[in-house]
This record gives sequence, structure tokens and C-alpha cells, in this order.
Amino acid sequence: MTNNLVLVTGGTGTLGRQVVPLLRAAGRPVRVLSRRERPAEDGVAYVRGDLLGDAAEADARLDEALAGVHTVLHLAGGPKGDDEATRRLVAAARRAGVRHLVHISVIGADKVPLGYFRAKLAAEEAVAGSGLPYTVLRAAQFHDLAFTVVEKMAKLPLVPAPGGVRWQPVDVREVAARLVELALGEPAGPVPDLAGPAVYGMDELTRRYLAARGRSRRMLPVRVPGKVGRAYRSGANLTLAGAEHGRRTWEEFLAERLAA
Ligand SMILES: NC(=O)c1ccc[n+]([C@@H]2O[C@H](COP(=O)([O-])OP(=O)(O)OC[C@H]3O[C@@H](n4cnc5c(N)ncnc54)[C@H](OP(=O)(O)O)[C@@H]3O)[C@@H](O)[C@H]2O)c1
Repeated sequence: MTNNLVLVTGGTGTLGRQVVPLLRAAGRPVRVLSRRERPAEDGVAYVRGDLLGDAAEADARLDEALAGVHTVLHLAGGPKGDDEATRRLVAAARRAGVRHLVHISVIGADKVPLGYFRAKLAAEEAVAGSGLPYTVLRAAQFHDLAFTVVEKMAKLPLVPAPGGVRWQPVDVREVAARLVELALGEPAGPVPDLAGPAVYGMDELTRRYLAARGRSRRMLPVRVPGKVGRAYRSGANLTLAGAEHGRRTWEEFLAERLAA
């Protein structure tokens, strides 16, 4: 029988929590790497491991997590260190003879001059240079992240509206479905980006949030300075041509989230 065990790093996160049930529904046994000990449930086993912890300890945990694994979905990530974490994972996946490594990255990884994006690009390079059969999907910012950002800004008496900064937020469930489709298929290398159905200015995202909450706030136009500002104003974080698009809009997400 073909081994079809899937390891999901980041299986407890915003994206991973959507991915794991889809893999289970497709009949795949699933193992999740998490920094916390968790009991097995619903056909999902957990292995404790910290991709950025002590190197020898991380390697031992990864070897345990990867034993007998056919496919890895690498969704673990944080504000810092995704390059180092991915290098460690890739080395362990090579030792384990993994057959397909699926990696989530971010649109603009090669263009936005911020540490997070640079680390995502270096992580992509580690995957592509590993010699492992792989697939990399770059996604736009998830609605959940846009919501966190806008909710914080909307608490201020004057809501900052960074001029020329646009987002293409995408529904995390659609990213999860695409990743599972990719994981169940053959390794495809870099695949078309997945963005949301529409481009919004940051101010527009905020206005729609405020309208959905029935609130009003004054907006304060601000200019993001330096090369980061220039990159955002040039659309470095967007894919305006050649992307695949999710269908769920920001307005639909807001209606659902605010009703919950
Ligand atoms: N959020 C976005 O808008 C967006 C857009 C494009 C791409 N992405 C990428 O998508 C991935 C998932 O994002 P998300 O929003 O779902 O993240 P999230 O909700 O913050 O979840 C992060 C996940 O990574 C795991 N993790 C973090 N550091 C770890 C470490 N050192 N060792 C092992 N596991 C670790 C966490 O597991 P435990 O806490 O259980 O250890 C958790 O499951 C990330 O790679 C991110 O860069 C995100």
C-alpha cells in the first residue's frame, strides 16, 4: 500500500486549522508539528517540536515527526525566522526521503523590502534548492490578518489611512482548499499566486469595516516613508496579472465575522 501520511507544520494556525480537516476528509492520515504537546484526536496525531528551538532538539523532533511521511505541508510561520525554520525542515525532509513538500509563501516575497518578506523569499529558495519534489504557492494577505490590522487601527480616534497602500485580501478557506488540492497532486514547483477577488486601498478596507460595524471615524491620511512606502505604492505586494483569485469578498468576510 502507498504511504499517504501527511505532516502539517503550522497545523494549529489560522491556515493550518482549515487545512487539516480537508486532508482528513480526503482520507489522509495527518500528523501536526506544534510547539505544544497535544493529545491525538480525529485521526490527527501531534508531535511537539520547535523549528526555531535548540538545533539538536529541533532535528530530533523533526526526525520523529517526519518518519514515514510522504507529503509535508509547511505552513508554520511567524513574524521572524521563517528562513531558518524552513532550512531546518528541508534538511530533515531530505533525511526522511519526503516525496512532496508543499510550501506557503506570500505575494511580494521577492519585492517588498521588509524582513518578513525577505525571510519568506529565503524560505522559498531553501525549498526550491533542496532537491526535494516541491510545490510553492504564494498567497495574498488573509482576511483574518486584514481584520486584525483594521480592527486595531479603527480603535484610534483618528484612523490612519496610508496613501496608495493596497491589499488583495483572500479567504483563508480558499487558500486551504487550494493547498490541499496541490498536496494531493504531483509536485508542481512554483504555481500561480492566489489573491482575493478585489484590490482595496487600506482606507477602503477600514471604511468597509467601520460601515459593517455601524461606526464612523475620521481618517487621517498618512504617507508610508522610504523604500517600504515606495514598494507598497508601486503594488509590490499585489499580483495584478496572472494570479488565481478567491471568490469570497472582504464584505462577505466582515458580515460573517461580525455576526459570529
Ligand atoms: N496571515 C497571512 O495573511 C498570510 C498570507 C500569506 C502567507 N502566509 C503564511 O501562511 C503561513 C500560516 O500563516 P497563519 O496566518 O496561519 O499563521 P498563524 O495563525 O500565526 O499560525 C502560525 C503557526 O505556525 C506554527 N509555528 C510558529 N512558529 C513555530 C515554530 N518555531 N516551530 C513550529 N511551529 C511553529 C504555530 O504552531 P504552534 O503555535 O502550535 O506551535 C502555528 O500553527 C505562514 O507561513 C505565513 O507566512 C500568511
